[in-house]
Amino acid sequence: MNNILEVKELKKIFTMKNGRKIEAVKNINFNVRRGEVFGFLGPNGAGKSTTISMLTTQKPATAGEILLDGESLIKNPANARRKIGVVAQHNNLDRGLTARENLIYHAKYFGMETNMANKKADEYLEKFGLADRQHDYVKSYSGGMAQRVKIARAMIHTPDILYLDEPTTGLDPSYRSILWEQMIELNKAGTTIFLTTHYMEEPEQLCDRIAIINNGELIALGTSSELKNMIPSNNIVSMKLSVLNDSHVESAKELPGVEKATIQSGLLQLYMKDAQPDFNRLVSWVKGLDTTLQNISLSTSTLDDVFIHLTGKGIMSNEIK
Ligand SMILES: Nc1ncnc2c1ncn2[C@@H]1O[C@H](COP(=O)(O)OP(=O)(O)O)[C@@H](O)[C@H]1O
Ligand SMILES: [Mg+2]
Repeated sequence: MNNILEVKELKKIFTMKNGRKIEAVKNINFNVRRGEVFGFLGPNGAGKSTTISMLTTQKPATAGEILLDGESLIKNPANARRKIGVVAQHNNLDRGLTARENLIYHAKYFGMETNMANKKADEYLEKFGLADRQHDYVKSYSGGMAQRVKIARAMIHTPDILYLDEPTTGLDPSYRSILWEQMIELNKAGTTIFLTTHYMEEPEQLCDRIAIINNGELIALGTSSELKNMIPSNNIVSMKLSVLNDSHVESAKELPGVEKATIQSGLLQLYMKDAQPDFNRLVSWVKGLDTTLQNISLSTSTLDDVFIHLTGKGIMSNEIK
């Protein structure tokens, strides 16, 4: 079977104490192929964690079906759980246990023998920089350390499918790269990866395919290049000008090869038809204006540009800065 996971018309409605209903996940449909790294990208509040909690049996679905390995996870959650590893967004470690105990108990719960559990625990504690503090209760750990224990615990039993819900939150850059290395190693050995994130670069670099979710709806799914092909132009010239206003944007729209012009983060952005735009022409255009050019660069579009194209705003735009 090609798909390890099939999600059909999956829905989650939360009913608040005052009777208000929140439709966090609205009848979404998608499949995850066996062995792929699947990205689930969307802003805060999009419904990523709610979806993961249904896919990992932690929360019941309001409606819909989830097939894991062709078998209904909703009808048979115990079977499904044996195949799943999950790094939840919240801290769900056993705070009254040490890091080592958290790993060993988890490995044994998944049927690992004591010797193997100890060996694997040594390996992961070392990799994630936890060896020194392995005998301390996790309740004394910083957020970043606890996150590393959660990641090690989810990986230790080599699950068939590993769910990572915003796993880099609170991680130092050095541990981020260790996380990605470990994730890729597991993936090469056969584990399917399901990664949620609201950071744009992560899925772009790591994922075979990416689903974009917004307001509980799945609004796009494809490889990063397929998604980028949804927007009118892939090539963006960014110009830093000493003075920048709407009259410059209007003038830029008249330039040959410019499909769209906007101001973003204080830069004039020109969406160009050609991969190699005529920079000389752009520079002489600025010379004829009441402003000077401070910087000019060419970039290809990002997944955030795709998100803006689909929803009208950036993925981080509701972030508290
Ligand atoms: N336990 C809950 N009770 C009520 N509403 C919830 C609960 N969990 C999540 N929500 C709401 O569901 C929506 C999706 O949340 P969530 O799945 O956490 O999004 P994401 O993980 O993409 O940031 C949000 O509006 C959130 O407030
Ligand atoms: Mg979340």
